[in-house]
Amino acid sequence: MPRNTAGIPARLAQAFAVLVCFSITAPSLSALDSTKPKRHFRVERPADLTDADALTIYTQILGEIVAGYALSREPVASEYRHWRRFNRAPYRSATHGERYVSNYGNVEAEAYARFEAGGRMPAGALLAKDSFAVTQRGDVFTGPLFLMEKMPAGFNPASRDWRYSMIMPDGSLFGETKGPGSARVEFCITCHKAAGDRNDHMYFVPKSHRVRFGNEDPE
Ligand code: HEC
Repeated sequence: MPRNTAGIPARLAQAFAVLVCFSITAPSLSALDSTKPKRHFRVERPADLTDADALTIYTQILGEIVAGYALSREPVASEYRHWRRFNRAPYRSATHGERYVSNYGNVEAEAYARFEAGGRMPAGALLAKDSFAVTQRGDVFTGPLFLMEKMPAGFNPASRDWRYSMIMPDGSLFGETKGPGSARVEFCITCHKAAGDRNDHMYFVPKSHRVRFGNEDPE
């Protein structure tokens, strides 16, 4: 039987995800306090994790994060962790529910390593962003897996042929562009569109956390 790693009913988990997803302007982690932590992993200084702390926590819980996503049976959910990671340490993403996130790309998405100079991604490029949250009390939760997959030309001009999807920590699919729950991931397109055509709707890792691969344009 699929295990709900968050220890809360799947529907509640979804409502919770929506809540956190939309707390873009005034993110508050207090909403997390009322839900039961999935386990007693607690950090002492949760408010602003140092990169080193964020990386330590991430390294410790990655296996568990992936085990949850893998329940979806989507190959990407377990494969992504072996791909190239583009950020030095997890960073807190205000636009993805104030969660600590990491960005990975498959071989087809290797141009992502050049960030703004990468140009348009080819069909087959897959970008995966995993996440975890830390409450003010220091409880650690696994968060959703955010995916952008470049589909063949004509798939969906409005999203520049990106298919957005979100897999919940318990492996359930929250929504997928042009697939089940498509309306639930419309907001991904809306925001990513603002990144512009020149960036192919991508926002890239914040400069402070980029891995320098030595193949980017000089600034
Ligand atoms: C309010 C704006 C906003 C919304 C809504 C949003 N994103 Fe993002 N997304 C960003 C920003 C900004 C970045 C880069 C910085 C970061 O990670 O916070 C990003 C980065 C990403 C990346 C890495 C590729 C890139 O653009 O650099 C993926 C994958 C991603 N988002 C998926 C999603 C999915 C899936 C959804 C919907 C479930 C979503 N995003 C909703 C703003 C948004």
